[in-house]
Amino acid sequence: TGAFTYDPGFTSTGSCESEITYIDGDKGVLLHRGYPIDQLAEHGDFLETCYLLLYGELPTSAQKADFDNRVTRHTMLHEQMARFFTGFRRDAHPMAIVCGVVGALSAFYHNSTDISDPHQRMVASLRMIAKLPTIAAMALKYSIGQPFVYPRNDLDYAANFLHMCFAVPCEEYKINPVLARAMDRIFILHADHEQNASTSTVRLAGSSGANPFACIAAGIACLWGPAHGGANEAALNMLSEIGSVENIPTYVARAKDKDDPFRLMGFGHRVYKNYDPRAKIMQKTCHEVLGELGITDDPMLEVAMELENIALTDEYFIEKKLYPNIDFYSGITLKALGFAPNMFTVLFALARTVGWIAQWKEMVEDPQQRIGRPRQLYTGHTQRDYVPMSRRK
Ligand code: CMC
Repeated sequence: TGAFTYDPGFTSTGSCESEITYIDGDKGVLLHRGYPIDQLAEHGDFLETCYLLLYGELPTSAQKADFDNRVTRHTMLHEQMARFFTGFRRDAHPMAIVCGVVGALSAFYHNSTDISDPHQRMVASLRMIAKLPTIAAMALKYSIGQPFVYPRNDLDYAANFLHMCFAVPCEEYKINPVLARAMDRIFILHADHEQNASTSTVRLAGSSGANPFACIAAGIACLWGPAHGGANEAALNMLSEIGSVENIPTYVARAKDKDDPFRLMGFGHRVYKNYDPRAKIMQKTCHEVLGELGITDDPMLEVAMELENIALTDEYFIEKKLYPNIDFYSGITLKALGFAPNMFTVLFALARTVGWIAQWKEMVEDPQQRIGRPRQLYTGHTQRDYVPMSRRK
């Protein structure tokens, strides 16, 4: 039925042309529209990176102000949607809630499901970038039984998110600018990463003409897995399980043992065969957050730093080119910011939404775009005749 290349895991299949993100995995380089990730994280804010990913250029100050204003206009969630949350069990994983609620946005914004209209495509994009923090914060509040906190549009994107997550009625919530800046930087670091599993899922879903809300919900579902977005939660659990520096060698030995399925979470990457450039900034941000909060003796940070030292000098990790990835330090940082581990992947989804949307838009606007349809290597039975039930053994 025609020739094709068998490529499990798509390790050598290019599925699209893209102008958005460039990675050189051997050198540890990550560029968005040509700009290095460390420069974007150091000098800009998250909404600037969003603008860059969506429009291809850094905004002028007037464009930035207009963009911020347009995003801010969409931060509220329809009151009816709040009832969606209350339908979930209170111990539901926040990722399950966010995945469901984002998919349900298509039931609320019918006009934005018209993907043939460029204006509606942009409105859908802005709606999701604006509403994801509100949805994520509501999932958090629901999981701990606190009332929802409405967005405050006088705050910037990250500060407003922290406000919605941590403000409680009858108590003043003061934004700590160092922590808000760290949150913003974490969002920048997660904004896009070319054709990873969830982004490819979004593109594949979108290739059939599915509406953008449904496509992003598909991306969120894919991100949930521990080999992808769930790794930050898994990395923190692993650090906590290791517990103290003396136990590290046991876990390193387990990671190297072929018969043990255990892996060092937060290590290794399909594309980076060098230090993940995002991990360096994340490590720095981690120290800033812990310093600001006066946390001087976090045992998990101690375990993480020692584990990194040991792994970076171990023959197995050197030979297999396994370096810390972005998730290695993000769990410790997010925990210090006040998030429970079950929120970590939600924060990743929130930040990655802009990348998914930019990639989805690029695909929809590509005249060469066709429905995605991988082939398979069939290994089942050859043709055989139906056996009546009375004769089956
Ligand atoms: N600990 C121990 N050994 C490892 C690890 C690890 N974390 N990662 C890879 N290896 C070994 C693996 O056993 C294999 O050995 P061998 O060749 O002897 O069979 C070799 O390295 C190559 O691994 P692979 O699974 O074929 O590589 P991959 O490109 O399919 O997987 C990965 C990449 C990220 C899924 C994997 O490195 C992993 O499971 N890491 C832990 C989970 C993690 O931190 N994920 C976050 C990724 S970054 C954020 C994101 O993109 O979402």
